[in-house]
Amino acid sequence: MTRGGVDLTMSPETPARSAPPGWERVVLIGFMGSGKTTVGRSLAARLGWTFVDLDDEVEATTGAKIADLFRTLGEAEFRRLEAEAGERVLDRPRTVVAPGGGWSLAPGRLESLPEGTLTVWLKVTPETAVRRAMRHARVRPLLAGPDPLGTARALLAERERIYAKARLTVDSEGASPAALAEEIVHRMESLR
Ligand code: S3P
Repeated sequence: MTRGGVDLTMSPETPARSAPPGWERVVLIGFMGSGKTTVGRSLAARLGWTFVDLDDEVEATTGAKIADLFRTLGEAEFRRLEAEAGERVLDRPRTVVAPGGGWSLAPGRLESLPEGTLTVWLKVTPETAVRRAMRHARVRPLLAGPDPLGTARALLAERERIYAKARLTVDSEGASPAALAEEIVHRMESLR
């Protein structure tokens, strides 16, 4: 049954268009507060793929919050757990992955992703990153000090050259997660 050209038999989960061929997964990289999780969820729904947030994956496997892992085990051990979670998840096809903002920084990581993986850098200013991170329920231990904005500026300046290795760069400010997801799908179609 259709009305105004819209197929009313489609379930709400049915993607409006199928995923562009040639791609098996999308990995969204970028700073804390760049919208990796919200855009990732929207993109996965749009493609009819699965969404995985790597911080959630680490919390589910360890049964501990990210902030507690940083405090009790230290950042190096958190990075090891995060790397392990990434290896498990990156095997899966038709998946959108949102790793934490530090995951992509390990040497060689972006260069050794499986075939068919599109990397997208969601670009954000330190000001927006801090504003969003402060609003969010999940504590970001790296921004928990007395000068979150100064820290965000310094970290972003160090990290930008790695994030810039992504195949696509998308400005994450001034557009809704759904609009950003749509922009990514559109660009996936022309990139393949
Ligand atoms: C981190 C980003 C966080 C989380 C941890 C460390 C980072 O994830 O993994 O607090 O080093 O940038 P989000 O980018 O999802 O906030």
